[in-house]
Amino acid sequence: MTAFSFQTVPSIKFGEPAAEALAPMVAGFGAQRLMIVTDPGVVDAGLVTPVTDALTGLGLKVHVYDDVEADPPEAKVLAAVAAAQDFEAEAIVGLGGGSPMDTAKLVALLCRAKQPLSTMYGVAQVDRSQVPGGRLPLFQVPTTAGTGSEVTPIAIVTVGAEIKLGVVDPILYADGAVLDPSLTTGLPKHVTAHTGIDAMVHAIEAYTSKIRKNPLSDGLAVQALTLLARGLPRAMANGSDLSARGDMLLGAMLAGQAFANAPVGAVHALAYPIGALFHVPHGLSNTQVLGPVLRFNAETHPRLYAELADLLVPGGSGGSEGSRAGQFIDFMEQLTADCGVNPRLREVGISHNDLPKLAEDAMKQTRLLQNNLREMTYDAALAIYSKAL
Ligand SMILES: NC(=O)c1ccc[n+]([C@@H]2O[C@H](COP(=O)([O-])OP(=O)(O)OC[C@H]3O[C@@H](n4cnc5c(N)ncnc54)[C@H](O)[C@@H]3O)[C@@H](O)[C@H]2O)c1
Ligand SMILES: [Fe+2]
Repeated sequence: MTAFSFQTVPSIKFGEPAAEALAPMVAGFGAQRLMIVTDPGVVDAGLVTPVTDALTGLGLKVHVYDDVEADPPEAKVLAAVAAAQDFEAEAIVGLGGGSPMDTAKLVALLCRAKQPLSTMYGVAQVDRSQVPGGRLPLFQVPTTAGTGSEVTPIAIVTVGAEIKLGVVDPILYADGAVLDPSLTTGLPKHVTAHTGIDAMVHAIEAYTSKIRKNPLSDGLAVQALTLLARGLPRAMANGSDLSARGDMLLGAMLAGQAFANAPVGAVHALAYPIGALFHVPHGLSNTQVLGPVLRFNAETHPRLYAELADLLVPGGSGGSEGSRAGQFIDFMEQLTADCGVNPRLREVGISHNDLPKLAEDAMKQTRLLQNNLREMTYDAALAIYSKAL
């Protein structure tokens, strides 16, 4: 028997219209002044007004902050905090993809915290004595099926010009999450692909996480991968397919619950420098290193990837663990190709000369690399980036 612990968001609603599901959830917390944290793309998609109308219909005062930038820079997070303080917000709603939801988490925390954000990066660095009364009530409504941020205690921030750091602390678990697949039917194809693959990587890395993998995270990762592998091709073929969008949104959330407890590894560690230095969308950067990282890991640790092949790749069982692991990695590469994602680093302007800096920065992602099945070295990271070029 191996001891483990597991945490998630206490209240989750799936399948109702977001506006209808959110209003009673928020009302239960007694807050009168609510700030919605979102971005211009989500506003343009027409997703904010119905939620605002439902909340104002309850007599609440609502302020929409729509200036979140993708891969939120620290200064933009602090600007959102200032807006919430000016408005005297009593509760925060994140409405959007990972960028608005991560910003919303930090706004809910920093409105109440005396501790500066710069000292919060890392795992469990939030000093509760510096957050009198705890964070503001926090609710999340995802509009991408990718990060699972609605159920993770993680907020990723771009610090300085070129490094992505995470605040990882249970205080960031939201009070409630509302999942409405209809909010995702208007996602552009490339965002559907990138965010969907990100979600699959969360499930794969949770299932193969070295340190805190456990029976609950395994069950969630398996269910997530099943739904995502089934939903992604259908959502790509027809963005209005509500059943496919539902599979994706649920799969992304289950993957989020899995990796919140069994954290991601080297795929994310090597993807972050690509995103930070070259402003490549998070899911695309993951795709760029996915095959080479998995092949590196599977060379010495094929078993768990072979198990995932049994889940997703029909036929072919009975081969060696190594060959089954290879079939799983081939399956993932074919899936990303079918989604039209070209993963080559050179396609986003990265050249051979950039690789040492990428490898150096990847080695700084110690929070993630400690979860990786196989020890990652600078030389191995450089070789992986070379393969991905
Ligand atoms: N907190 C976590 O656990 C976690 C996990 C993985 C990644 N992340 C972080 O999340 C961020 C990425 O989030 P993301 O991939 O969801 O993308 P995103 O939030 O940056 O959004 C990408 C684009 O999609 C648009 N968009 C979002 N929903 C839309 C919709 N329904 N219709 C039309 N357009 C829409 C946005 O306006 C934006 O332009 C990164 O900063 C990443 O590091 C966080
Ligand atoms: Fe991710």
